Amino acid sequence: MTKRTIIITGGAGFIGSHVVRLFVNKYPEYRIINLDKLTYAGNLANLKDIEDKPNYRFVKMDICDFEGVYQLMQEEHVDGIIHLAAESHVDRSIKDPFTFAQTNVMGTLSMLQAAKLYWESLTTPYVMQDVDRLPSSLAHVIPTEERGSVSMGKELGMTSTPCRFYHISTDEVYGALEMTHPQGIEPPFTTKASSGEHHLAYGEKFFTEDLKYQPHSPYSAAKASSDHFVRAFHDTYGMPTVVTNCSNNYGPYQFPEKLIPLFINNIRHRKPLPVYGKGENVRDWLFVEDHARAIDLIFHEGKVAETYNIGGFNEWKNIDIIHVLIKTVDRLLGRPEGADEDLITYVTDRAGHDMRYAIDSTKLQKELGWEPSLQFEEGIEKTVRWYLDNQEWMDNVTSGDYQKYYDDMYANR
Ligand code: NAD
Ligand code: DAU
Repeated sequence: MTKRTIIITGGAGFIGSHVVRLFVNKYPEYRIINLDKLTYAGNLANLKDIEDKPNYRFVKMDICDFEGVYQLMQEEHVDGIIHLAAESHVDRSIKDPFTFAQTNVMGTLSMLQAAKLYWESLTTPYVMQDVDRLPSSLAHVIPTEERGSVSMGKELGMTSTPCRFYHISTDEVYGALEMTHPQGIEPPFTTKASSGEHHLAYGEKFFTEDLKYQPHSPYSAAKASSDHFVRAFHDTYGMPTVVTNCSNNYGPYQFPEKLIPLFINNIRHRKPLPVYGKGENVRDWLFVEDHARAIDLIFHEGKVAETYNIGGFNEWKNIDIIHVLIKTVDRLLGRPEGADEDLITYVTDRAGHDMRYAIDSTKLQKELGWEPSLQFEEGIEKTVRWYLDNQEWMDNVTSGDYQKYYDDMYANR
């Protein structure tokens, strides 16, 4: 059995908590360290069901704390990093770009530099004298006589290196796609473009891995910058990195600043639903557990230095999703169908609002065989049910500073 010690940053957040849960349950032989600062978005209640597992440790730490991170890596003999910690909400980035640069850029740099120094230190007698503590994944790669001269990357061959820095990024770094359609056919139209399968699309172009970065918001600019640093650490120092860019996630445990949980909560409480602009913007939605499965697969089998796009060819206009949410919440609460349609309130658009995101995940599907497991209808039903069944979770995260955030963001909009 391969033993690994992995730091997952941002493990108390939305996607991170699903990744931590998956790894802790699926790999009892691994040691999973959840490193999280517990900002407003971090919540240990997201991990109640696994917090007592013997292969899990939570460490409250800021990724910008270089010394602390380096020491933790030494103490735990870390051989893998899955880096999710970030400031993640576009609207907040528009109000406070500095925090986004600090966490997403400097924080990622701090993680990279700490991993580089620690993994380079494995060329020292640590490996020779302490063979039992050598990550067992190294054992088959390094002949016994060569132990002691191990470095983190090149000598071992990039595809079989034991250490790995996996950076989780977003499709927003590619910018915005246009809404286009073949002549005479109204969107959404059925296409096989960028996929072997038929799917609905609002445009003829998709985000592919080789596309030029064109971020528009402070959030996506900071994420783009962090992606560049990760690739620079590979190209300059031989760091075994991998980057993935995923589309919009939805599912349980998402902080209710994002469209889906915010709207479910407002419908439940019959509060206005603030639709930006005309509600025409298109997003490509993926169930969060499918993202977590992709991360598991890519962490173990993705090629070093590669980029993989993750998405399920599932484009929706915001306003159409909102109708689905109203219908589903009303049905599950026993309200007359469409009873809450009048909550829809068109408000001032988000500054620089990207029109359309659409991921082409063909590379991931072809090279590693990943596919989403859930149809959107099934995923959204599961998600709405979860929020309605977990009102206590929602009440906790919407107490405290949330009301102030809500007023700052939406009053007078
Ligand atoms: P989230 O905001 O729900 O969680 C972020 C987590 O990071 C929180 O637990 C927070 O406490 C932690 N964190 C923030 N700053 C930190 C710091 N300085 N040090 C340590 N921990 C810190 O975010 P999410 O939606 O789960 O996104 C996770 C990652 O996935 C992000 O990198 C984001 O860019 C990326 N991503 C998100 C989506 C999406 O739809 N949510 C899609 C694609 C990619
Ligand atoms: O594409 C991946 C990205 O998806 C991630 O990198 C980000 O971390 C994540 O927040 C998400 O970004 P979006 O800006 O697309 O998600 P959000 O839920 O904030 O908004 C989805 C759409 O809904 C967007 O077009 C804006 C609109 N919207 C959002 C809110 C919060 C509204 O119309 N009203 C709202 O109140």
